[in-house]
Amino acid sequence: MHERSLANLSPRRDLDVLMDLTPRCNIYCTMCLLPLEEEHSKGAEMPEVVFKRISDEVFPRAKSVSLSCGSEPFMSKRFLPALETAVSAGVPNVRFVTNGLLMTDDAIERIIELGVNRIMVSLDGATAATYESIRVGGKFEKLVDRLMALDRIKKARRSTTPVLKFSWVLMRSNLDEVLGLVELARRVGAGEIYLRHLVPFAELDVSHELVFDTPHTVNAVLDEAWERARGYGIRMTSLPKLSPGRLSVSQKLVLSFEQAREIARDEGLGGVLAVVRRKWRLRPKACDQPWFSVYIRPDGSINPCGAWFKEAPLGSLASQHLQEIYGSEDAQRLRNELTGLAPLRSACAQCPNVVSGRSNQHAFKPRSAWASGRPRDWKPKVPKILERARKSTQPGAPV
Ligand SMILES: C[S@@+](CC[C@H](N)C(=O)[O-])C[C@H]1O[C@@H](n2cnc3c(N)ncnc32)[C@H](O)[C@@H]1O
Ligand code: SF4
Repeated sequence: MHERSLANLSPRRDLDVLMDLTPRCNIYCTMCLLPLEEEHSKGAEMPEVVFKRISDEVFPRAKSVSLSCGSEPFMSKRFLPALETAVSAGVPNVRFVTNGLLMTDDAIERIIELGVNRIMVSLDGATAATYESIRVGGKFEKLVDRLMALDRIKKARRSTTPVLKFSWVLMRSNLDEVLGLVELARRVGAGEIYLRHLVPFAELDVSHELVFDTPHTVNAVLDEAWERARGYGIRMTSLPKLSPGRLSVSQKLVLSFEQAREIARDEGLGGVLAVVRRKWRLRPKACDQPWFSVYIRPDGSINPCGAWFKEAPLGSLASQHLQEIYGSEDAQRLRNELTGLAPLRSACAQCPNVVSGRSNQHAFKPRSAWASGRPRDWKPKVPKILERARKSTQPGAPV
């Protein structure tokens, strides 16, 4: 019934792989769930046997591999050798996402030598004050130094890769600095900027950072940033326009037209059609991920994507083959749900991509992220460093 699931894939490279070699991180961002997990500082690296299975079974069929997703890749000693393994396996698109703070000159040299395609560096402030209040424990000056080093070494080696892409979580406290982000991108030679909305996990107490209540201001800031980025030749993925409250039919039409124009600008006509089909449920699948994507956690467990917080994994590479996991009854059930043959499970039903076709404000309501296996009254232990940062950034805190 399901034409091409992973269970019956040919040896073609059809698979987008996201994986984390370690669950650890060196800093404590206020909007990230990881610092509330014990794994943040004590988690174990991926066992050799799991990595071996990934190199044997997963890399040969991967069309892209991101060697990080939910933690900090430079915290793993294995990170550079793992990049090398992915490149040697012939994966056409090798990339990773990082906070960039631990990226040494030697690492940059190696990454360029290997031909890694893209590095996505996350930052959520264009000044030291804002950056360091959100990315607690990070040093803005250090980050800029590392970004300049990347630019310098690439130029010295006359290399256009890796392309530097910025990732920025749009929040109330950094809205005024989006233009500063574009200027910084120009200064350090970033070729792309990716803006995303904050997912306001209830455990983190960050819903005051959502920007949906001032749509006109946000739309104006984003328009200006987009224009400026375009002027510098930087590709910036625009966020969809925010809608200002209850709209008349004609206002809705104007807004839809503006949104379609923006999506066409970023993704072409195909992008517009994909959103229309998803939004009006004309699309055969609510989401494609469990057909062509896999997220591998450091312990080898497999989820179809990185937004799979409350659900049990589909299986584990520590004891099973990939084919077995994606051919399992549970994986088949998931695909049936996404093709409309059964009700969606909670993770999918709440995923911004499924809810809206393209992320919009209704898909970003605060909700709890933790697994249902935890006791009802369970509260995450907030590290002291984060507790202090939270108090000083809450609205009404003394300046
Ligand atoms: C979890 S981090 C892991 C990689 C790396 N440590 C970093 O910061 O880029 C992956 C991405 O998720 C983003 N992120 C973290 N918490 C988020 C949230 N609540 N909403 C939206 N994006 C978030 C980060 O900004 C980063 O770009
Ligand atoms: S650097 Fe990345 S993984 Fe670490 S706390 Fe920040 S967003 Fe989370």
